[in-house]
Amino acid sequence: MLTTRQCIREMPEYASPSGDPSLPVRLDLNENTSGCSPRVLARLRNLDAKKIALYAPREPGEKLAADFLGLRPEETLLTNGADEGIDLLCRAYLDAEGEMAIVTPAFNMYEVFCQSTGATLVGVPAAAEFRFPVEGLLKAITPRTRLMIVTNPNNPTGVAADRNDILRVVEAAPDAAVLVDEAYFDFYGQTLIDQIGRIPNLFVARTFSKAYGLAGMRIGILAGAQEQISEIRRIPSPFNLNVFALECLSEALADRETVAAYVTQTRHGREWLRQELTALGVKCWPSETSFLLADFGGYCEALLAAMAREGIALRPRPDLPGCIRITIGTQQEMQRVITAVQQFMKTRTEARQAVP
Ligand SMILES: Cc1ncc(COP(=O)(O)O)c(C=O)c1O
Repeated sequence: MLTTRQCIREMPEYASPSGDPSLPVRLDLNENTSGCSPRVLARLRNLDAKKIALYAPREPGEKLAADFLGLRPEETLLTNGADEGIDLLCRAYLDAEGEMAIVTPAFNMYEVFCQSTGATLVGVPAAAEFRFPVEGLLKAITPRTRLMIVTNPNNPTGVAADRNDILRVVEAAPDAAVLVDEAYFDFYGQTLIDQIGRIPNLFVARTFSKAYGLAGMRIGILAGAQEQISEIRRIPSPFNLNVFALECLSEALADRETVAAYVTQTRHGREWLRQELTALGVKCWPSETSFLLADFGGYCEALLAAMAREGIALRPRPDLPGCIRITIGTQQEMQRVITAVQQFMKTRTEARQAVP
């Protein structure tokens, strides 16, 4: 009988974390609800039938991405979203004997990719207030540790780690690949990309899915030391990126205004939402990303259902009881969220008062 590898059989079936995709206000997947650059759209509209009929080479895009990041193309691999970069690192460094250390709570796909290699996942809980658990991570390093992922700023908490703390971890595990997942870099502004090429076991992942509004196109970057990237490059298909992503990359990178305006709008909307929720007595963690983690306590489930009735999809975090992750959308969308939360709380208070 045909059987998959044991580690695959033991994986739980993937359950999409997103809510009802038909809801009009999608604030559950940290997508950019303002859309991509008009320059990207114009380039897409100008693609001709012949171009689409050809396999698209990755190298010109890699040169562009490397120039943009101040790296050499040999240190830069374009990936099918940051997801593929993470998967490639798992496939390159992990096997059944290996361990991969992450900080929890974490981005869900780390676990999925790790499990598919048969390696052991070691979750190090975040410190108080979801701060980066530098001491815990240092203690988690063993001779079996082959890969460590630091998400900076973190998803789903939004909390950022100090650069020197991350560097301590990278230096303490010279025999492990250490990935700094900078998916939300654009909202934060601090990076370890300047250390690529200087530290042999450091990798940085970036994505165009967030600030650039290209989640549907699937494009990301994996940066690392040339010696490592040249071997990892052997794994993916030479045509892992589609022609749309590769053709639009130059426009996406060139349109700094659209990215800057979106980042400003998002930071403003995030702080506005944080103040409004705090005023309603909801605890929120300080975020350096395009989302906010909020603790609605015992009424989390009821609130999610009420929001869905208002057409708003938010992201529950079953690993953080009572917590909901809210993607920062347009000001109008944020206003809709607050109005719906206020209405929910009012109805709840009235229902309580009505009980004799
Ligand atoms: C921390 C983190 N890493 C990676 C990704 C995946 O990004 P991509 O869409 O480029 O695969 C996400 C997406 O939400 C993320 O939050």
